[in-house]
Formats: sequence, C-alpha cells, structure tokens
Amino acid sequence: MRKQCFCKVIKINLIMKILILNGPNLNLLGVREPGIYGSSSFDSYLPQLREQFPNVELEYCQSNVEGLMIDKMQEVGFSYDGIVLNAGAYTHTSVALQDCIRALKTPVIEVHISNVHQREEFRHRSMISCACMGVICGFGLDSYRLAVDALVWKAQH
Ligand code: DQA
Repeated sequence: MRKQCFCKVIKINLIMKILILNGPNLNLLGVREPGIYGSSSFDSYLPQLREQFPNVELEYCQSNVEGLMIDKMQEVGFSYDGIVLNAGAYTHTSVALQDCIRALKTPVIEVHISNVHQREEFRHRSMISCACMGVICGFGLDSYRLAVDALVWKAQH
C-alpha cells in the first residue's frame, strides 16, 4: 500500500513530453472563420496552455502537408508521452494518418476546436478516431487543454 503511494508521487513529479500537432489551415487560427474557430491565434494561446502544465514539456508543430505530419508523429511517437492531434480536414479523409497512429506506441488524442457533429455531414466521419485514445471536440481552444489534461491524468492512473 505504501509502495503504491510512493510510485504515484514519483509519476506526478516527472516531466511529461507531449506534442501538439495541428494540421492544414490551423496556422490561420484567429483569421480563419472566427465565428467558428475564434479570434485567437494558436501562438497567442500556447503560452497560457504551457503555464497551466508546469510539469509538461509541450512541443508545438503545425503543417499543411499530410506527409510532414506523419513524419513528425513517427519522430516522436515511440518516445513522447502523448500526442494531441488536430488533423484539420485530414481527419475526414486520411487513411495514412490512421495507419500512422496505429503504428505508434505513444497515445494520440484527436482534438477539434469546433463541434464537428453540429456541422456539415462530411465532418461527422473521422478516419482517425478509431485509432486514437479518445476524442475531444467543440470546446474552442480549450479542447487542447482538455486533451493535455486527459493525457496527464491517464499517465497518473
Ligand atoms: C477542425 C474541424 C475540421 O472539420 C476542419 O476541417 C478543420 C478544423 C476543428 O478544429 O474544428 O480544419 O479540425
């Protein structure tokens, strides 16, 4: 019993490494359809997010290119503690992303800023959800915080 508690304390104090990976058009956050995606850029949101997780090293990467997203996930997907993935429109089309997520050791959480289920029919289907640890959508940029929180919680329990 005592041993178990000791292990938990050690885990909580360890620095976790998490990659946030944004896909196509998410470099335009703040400018792109602000009625749907809000008026903050990801770069202005990231410092607030980092402040909330002092024990997490949060790396951020964005690409408009499917193959580069796969390269990045393969690079960190056997050593990092988690990946928060907003694959943008590739969510709805990419078998290659699904295969990549399945191949990795690192757990992946699918994230969307908007509630895709309240939007066009083609956004209701995700090609990657089945390979992810979980899905968070519809909370604006706070979706990313919820995803990081879920990865931290999972690592501790
Ligand atoms: C999105 C939803 C996708 O349908 C869309 O293609 C995006 C952004 C979101 O975060 O709400 O680019 O992933």
